[in-house]
Order: sequence, then structure tokens, then C-alpha cells
Amino acid sequence: MKDWGVGIERPWRASAEPVDPALDADAILARILDPDRRGTLHPLYHRLRALDPIHSSRSPRLPERCFVLTRHRDVDRVARSPAAVNDPDTARVFDRDGQGGAFFQLMRHAMLFLEKADHDRVRRLVYKAFTPRAIAPLRALTEETAHALLDAVAAKGRMDFVRDFAYPLPIRVIGRLLGLPDEDQARIEEWAWDFARAGDPMTATPETIRRGNVAADGFHAFFAAALDARRAQPRDDLLTTLVEAEEDGRGLGREEAIATCVLLLQAGHETTADLLGNAVLNLFAHPDELARLLREPALLPAAVEELLRFEPPVQLSMRLVREPIDLGEKTIPAGSFAALVYGAANRDPEMYAEPDVLRLDRGAPHLAFSAGAYYCIGNALARSEIQAALQVLLERLPTLRPDGAGWVERRTVRLRGPQALPVAWDRPDERRTDDGARPASMSQSEARNASSAARSAGLSANGRRRSASRPPPRS
Ligand code: HEM
Repeated sequence: MKDWGVGIERPWRASAEPVDPALDADAILARILDPDRRGTLHPLYHRLRALDPIHSSRSPRLPERCFVLTRHRDVDRVARSPAAVNDPDTARVFDRDGQGGAFFQLMRHAMLFLEKADHDRVRRLVYKAFTPRAIAPLRALTEETAHALLDAVAAKGRMDFVRDFAYPLPIRVIGRLLGLPDEDQARIEEWAWDFARAGDPMTATPETIRRGNVAADGFHAFFAAALDARRAQPRDDLLTTLVEAEEDGRGLGREEAIATCVLLLQAGHETTADLLGNAVLNLFAHPDELARLLREPALLPAAVEELLRFEPPVQLSMRLVREPIDLGEKTIPAGSFAALVYGAANRDPEMYAEPDVLRLDRGAPHLAFSAGAYYCIGNALARSEIQAALQVLLERLPTLRPDGAGWVERRTVRLRGPQALPVAWDRPDERRTDDGARPASMSQSEARNASSAARSAGLSANGRRRSASRPPPRS
């Protein structure tokens, strides 16, 4: 089992810790940013928003001169402002020993850390591979991958949802999108793991940093060779798109193309895994909504949007403010930072009625993918993957439920998700047959056939009639 370090044990039914009314905004922020105190952050977000929605931070965990934004309208405004950029200097945090190691050399060429004009150029080129049309064929691949992962565990009646399903699924899909050969997938996954551990400044150790540099060297050599191979012999994959990417006579630089491969791999897998984990946790906590989703699978696209709003995998990100931004009662001065707390903005009562209620058909927009110039380039892929993964999961394991005493939360601040999530379901010999539920041990092809037969009969895969009353919202 991969080692995420020590996580935080959580019982299944934990009520939110009340916020001490004596705490001021600085003390609340300290709790929000403390990796050892995760749990339900929303009461803290609500209190900070009520006390000081544009809070000038004194936290040593944030840069100096940083304003913490928790209202939807402010986060949205700053995310869309051309004056707010990702600071190329922030890549320097990865130059930990000042030796300009391999990890830092890769990251400084990633689009997230490029100067605005270069960022926009690289993003335009890469986006061609991420239009909803370009990623449509990956839906079938995700379904196939989800079936294969469930085939491996279905007869056991239990699994760790993160280890056995949510984590391996997206990394395999991105590997395929890039065009990585199956035989290389295992070492790519090892590097991706080590790279991600080294990339979290709050939890990195000398050993994770060393392994991160080894992974960056491995990635660099691997993708340099793969791009050269596509140049010699183009194929129908993202690596070839990157090689061919040219605009106004300027393509991607070689280092930019290599860094893009790594960024796509890294940005796309843990976020998606976290969303799947958070989704299952929140469906368990809301059994009526889970039952409704099982009855009405057509609700799935809207449900995914609501699950993204309810607990976004990226809880916060930083912007450098180049020109003053006027937010009404306060102006963010040029040269300072803004912390965009997506997790808080997505539950702002000014924007959402009853924000802490999970309502799968809410149909409201959210900031889980940010907004503006850095809006998640992989959003269409992520949405498609999550819908496909949950669809296969709920069709094949309709009796999915929590297993054991609780789950384990990861000690990360920017990203939020479970690191272990034990689940169980009725095995074939335990299964009730009176409600038409499909056997959990059905193979991939049997499941596919049953699923498409059920679909053409207008039924969900467990034999219940699908809701035809509302078309799925656009994703
Ligand atoms: C549920 C899954 C995902 C979530 C919640 C998510 C969220 C985000 C967010 C919030 C940002 C903005 C970062 C910032 O504010 O600085 C972002 C950027 C980005 N995401 Fe995603 N993401 C997801 C999946 C993916 C996937 C599948 C890919 C690609 C394979 C991807 C690739 C990227 C890239 C390349 C950027 C940087 C965009 C830029 O610099 O212009 N993401 N994502």
C-alpha cells in the first residue's frame, strides 16, 4: 500500500465541532490552515466569512500581505480579474535546497507558473486536447477501467475505496489520454506518487523531496524520449498533439512540452480521486440522496455538480495581485496575495439557499474548478470521468455502504480528500434477488450487456425505471 503518512482517523458519524464564539478571525484562520486539524471546516469558514470576509492574514502558513477571501462574489471577482495572476516566483518553493533540483526545473516550466503571456500561449495550445469533443471518447475508456477495477474486488464484498478504485482510475485514464504504453504505466504511477508527495510543502520531508527529484528525473527522460518518438512517428494521442502544437509559428518549447505532460498527469489524478472519495463520503452521510440517485440515475450529471460544490477537492489557491482590486469595503493592494478559499465560497449563504444541505438536483454553478484565466483545463474530462465512475459504481454495487468504524482523512490543506475509505456491499451469496439488483460479481462484459439492455428498456441497471422527467444538465 502506498504511504500517505499519518492521516487523521474519523468516525463515520461525526458531528461538526462547534466554533468557540471567543475566537477571533486570526485564530479561526489558524485552525483552517492547520494540517493536524481537518474535519468539517465549514463552520470555521462560515465564522470567518461573517467576522471578516476579506481578512488580512497574519498566518505564518500564508505569504506576507495576504488577504483571505471567503465570499463567493469576492473569490469569483479576483479569479476572473486580469490583475490577479499565478506568481512565477511561487515555483521557487520547490527549489528547497537552492540547488535548482530536477523537481524545481520541471515545475518552473509548467504553465501554472509561467508569466501571463506564456501561460496564455501554452494554455491555448494544450486546450485543443481538452475540448468536450476531444475528450468524449474517454468516457468509454473510464467505464472500462472502472469495470476492470471492480472486477478485481467485487466478489470480496469489501475494499478500500481510495486504494482500489478512486486513486487508480483517473491516473490510468490520463495515461491513456497521453498515449502512454500499458507496460510503462506502473513506473509512471510510482513517479506520479513520489512527485505528488514532494509537491505538498506542508507535509514534505527530506526523504519525500529526494524521491520527488528522482521522480522528476525519471519523468523528464521518459517524456523527452516519448515526444521524440511522436515527432518521428505521429499517433492519435495527446503527446502527438503537443508535438504538433503550433500557433503563430510558435509551438511549445521542449521543456514546456515535457512540463505539460507532467502537469496534466499530476493535476488530473489526485483531484479526481479526491472528488470521488468526497462524493462517496457525502453520499453515505446523506442516505436519502444516495437512495434517490440509485432510483434516478439521470440525476447523475447534476449530482456531480452539487458534490463538487459541497466539498471541492481544491479548497484554496493563491493569486498574486499585480494591480489594486477594489472589492467594495476593501481594496487588495498591488503586490499582495489573495487566498481564494473555494471551499468557503461554495457554501456562501449569500449565493446558495441552505448552503450546508446536499441537494443533488440543486443545479447551481460553483467554483470547484476556479474561474477566469486559470479555470481548470481538465474540467470536461474530470466531469466525464466522475460521472462514468459513479455510474458504474452504483450500477454494480447498489448496496455500497460504510465498513468498520470509520475512515482516514489526509493531512493536506490545499487539497482535501480521504486517504482510506473502507466500504462494503452485498456479495453475490448475500444478495437479495427480489429487487432485481445485479450480482456484484458480474464480469465487465456481463455488466455492460445488462447495463445497455436496462438502458434501452428505460430502466436503471438495478431494474428500476429511470426518471425521464428532467434532461441531464450540460456538463
Ligand atoms: C475533480 C477534478 C478536478 C478539480 C476539482 C480540479 C480543480 C482545478 C482548479 C481549482 C484549478 C485552478 C488552480 C488555481 O486556482 O490556481 C485547476 C487548474 C488546472 N487543472 Fe484541474 N481539477 C480537476 C481535474 C483536472 C484534470 C482531470 C486535469 C487534466 C488532466 C486538470 C488539469 C488542470 C490544469 C492543467 C490546470 C492549470 C490551468 C492553468 O494554469 O491555466 N485538472 N484545476
